[in-house]
Amino acid sequence: KILILDFGSQVTQLIARRVREAHVYCEVHPCDVSSEWVRQYAADGRLKGIILSGSHASVYEVDDRAPDAVFELGVPVLGICYGMQTMAQQLGGKVEGSPHREFGYAEVRARGHTALLKDIADFHTPEGHGMLKVWMSHGDKVTEMPPGFKLMASTDSCPIAGMADEARRFYGVQFHPEVTHTVQGRAMLERFVLEVCGAKPDWIMRDHIKEAVAAIRAQVGDEEVLLGLSGGVDSSVAAALIHRAIGDQLTCVFVDHGLLRLHEGDMVMDMFAGKLHARVIRVDASDLFLRELAGVTDPEQKRKIIGRLFVDVFKAEAEKLKAARPGSKGIQWLAQGTIYPDVIESGGAKSKKAVTIKSHHNVGGLPEQLGLKLLEPLRDLFKDEVRELGVALGLPHDMVYRHPFPGPGLGVRILGEVKKEYADLLRRADAIFIEELRSTIEPNSGKSWYDLTSQAFAVFLPVKSVGVMGDGRTYDYVVALRAVQTSDFMTADWAELPYGLLKRVSSRIINEVRGINRVTYDVSSKPPATIEWE
Ligand code: XMP
Repeated sequence: KILILDFGSQVTQLIARRVREAHVYCEVHPCDVSSEWVRQYAADGRLKGIILSGSHASVYEVDDRAPDAVFELGVPVLGICYGMQTMAQQLGGKVEGSPHREFGYAEVRARGHTALLKDIADFHTPEGHGMLKVWMSHGDKVTEMPPGFKLMASTDSCPIAGMADEARRFYGVQFHPEVTHTVQGRAMLERFVLEVCGAKPDWIMRDHIKEAVAAIRAQVGDEEVLLGLSGGVDSSVAAALIHRAIGDQLTCVFVDHGLLRLHEGDMVMDMFAGKLHARVIRVDASDLFLRELAGVTDPEQKRKIIGRLFVDVFKAEAEKLKAARPGSKGIQWLAQGTIYPDVIESGGAKSKKAVTIKSHHNVGGLPEQLGLKLLEPLRDLFKDEVRELGVALGLPHDMVYRHPFPGPGLGVRILGEVKKEYADLLRRADAIFIEELRSTIEPNSGKSWYDLTSQAFAVFLPVKSVGVMGDGRTYDYVVALRAVQTSDFMTADWAELPYGLLKRVSSRIINEVRGINRVTYDVSSKPPATIEWE
C-alpha cells in the first residue's frame, strides 16, 4: 500500500485516484499525523512508499511538516509541490518565496538520469533534452537542494523543478503529476509506485469483494443491519455488497417520495427484492410528500421539506424495525453508501487541512439519533471503483452507469409548486428523452449519446403556451431538455446533441405526452447557470 499525506491541496484526491488506477491500494491521511502513527501504519510491512501532497498555502504561511518518520522508514518518498518544498526544508535544503508565481502550463526540462523520469518525455529539444508538458501552481520554490540530492527537472523561472536522492529513493517535483494537464503525470506516478516503490498492482475488484465481505462479516457478527436504499449507485452497490456478506441480516428501506423517474421504484424493487432476494421494505410516502409540498414554490424551501420528510419517514421505519424480531438481536447497524470523495470532502478523513467543501448528507447525525453503529463498506472507494464493484457484484451495467440524480428528485425539476399532475407529465417526457439518448449512437465514438453526456433530463415549466394539433388549438405546458457534459459537475457545458435527435425527442414528447405542446433545449453553461434549474 501507498500512504498519501495530505497537506490540504484541492487535488490530493487525484493523487489517490492515479495510484489506484495503477491498481495499487493507497490511503489519504492528514499531514499532521504523528511519527508514531506513521511507524504503526508501516508496522505490518505492507507500506511501500509515501507521497506528500501539495498545499493551498505557502511554506511561509503554514508550518506543516511531514512527520520525521516519513524520512526514516527506508521507503521511497515522493514530494509534490509543497510536499517537495517541505521535504527540501526538512532534509537541510532551502525554500524561498518567489515574486514570480507560476500558474498553469509550463514546459520543464527533464533530467532523464533518474529512475523516476528515465525515458519519460513529451518531446525533445534540438539539443536532445527531454521536455515535459506540466501543470504548475506555486509561488515558493526550492533554491537549494538538501545534501545528497541531484537536479531532476528545471525551468527558466524555477531552476529546481525536480530533485532526487536516489540512494534514499526520495524524489520531489514542483509540478503536479496528478492532474491530467501534466501529460506524462500518470506515467510518472505509475513509475513511482510500481517501479521505485515496487508495489504490486494487485488492487483488483474481484479480490476486493472477498476482503470486503470478510470485513463486513467480522464487523457485524450476527447483528442486523439497516440500509436506506435510494436507487442511486452508491446505496445500491452498498446494499448488494452487504447482502453478499450477510444475506438476510440486512434490511433495506426504500423511501419512495413519489418524485422518482418513470418506473424507477418498481425497478429498484425488482432488482433487489426480485433478483437479489434481499429483504427490502418499500415505503410509499408520495402522498405525504405531495401534501407537505402543496403551495410551496421556493426552491430552497422545497429542498428542506423533502430532506426533512425523508429523514422522518426513514427514522419512523427504522424505529419500527429496531424492535427485535423473535430470535434476533434487533438492528444494531445503519449502513450508508458513503464513498471516499465524501469522506475527504467532509473532512471525515480527520484532516484539519482539507478545506471543507460541503458537508455530505451521508455523514450526518442519523446513526447517533437512531442509536445505531455506522457501517460504511464503500468508504475507501472512488466512484469509478464503486461502479466496477457494482458490476462485479452482478448489478446491471445500465443501473451502475446511470447519470446522477439529485436527492430531491423531480422536486427540483418541476419549477415552482410540485403537483402530481406535473410529476406524471414530466416523468413521461423525461423517459422519452433518456430512451432516445440511449438508442442514438454517435458514429465516431460508437457510444450512445447517453454515455456521451454526464447528465441529461427534462424540466417541467409550469407555463402554458399556444399550439395547434390537428384542427384544434392547444394551450399546454412546456418542457425544457437539459443535457450537459462535465468531468466534475462544478463546471459544465451544454451538450451539442445532433439536431436529428432533438427533433425526434421533441416530436415524440409532443405527440405522446398529452398536456405538453412545446419542447425547448437549454443552451446555458455552468457557470453562470447551474445544471439543475432549481
Ligand atoms: P447544480 O444544479 O448545482 O448541480 O449545478 C450539480 C450536481 O449536483 C446534483 N444536485 C444534487 N444532488 N441533492 C443531490 O443529491 C441535491 O439536493 C442536489 N442538487 C443538485 C445535480 O443533479 C448535479 O449532478
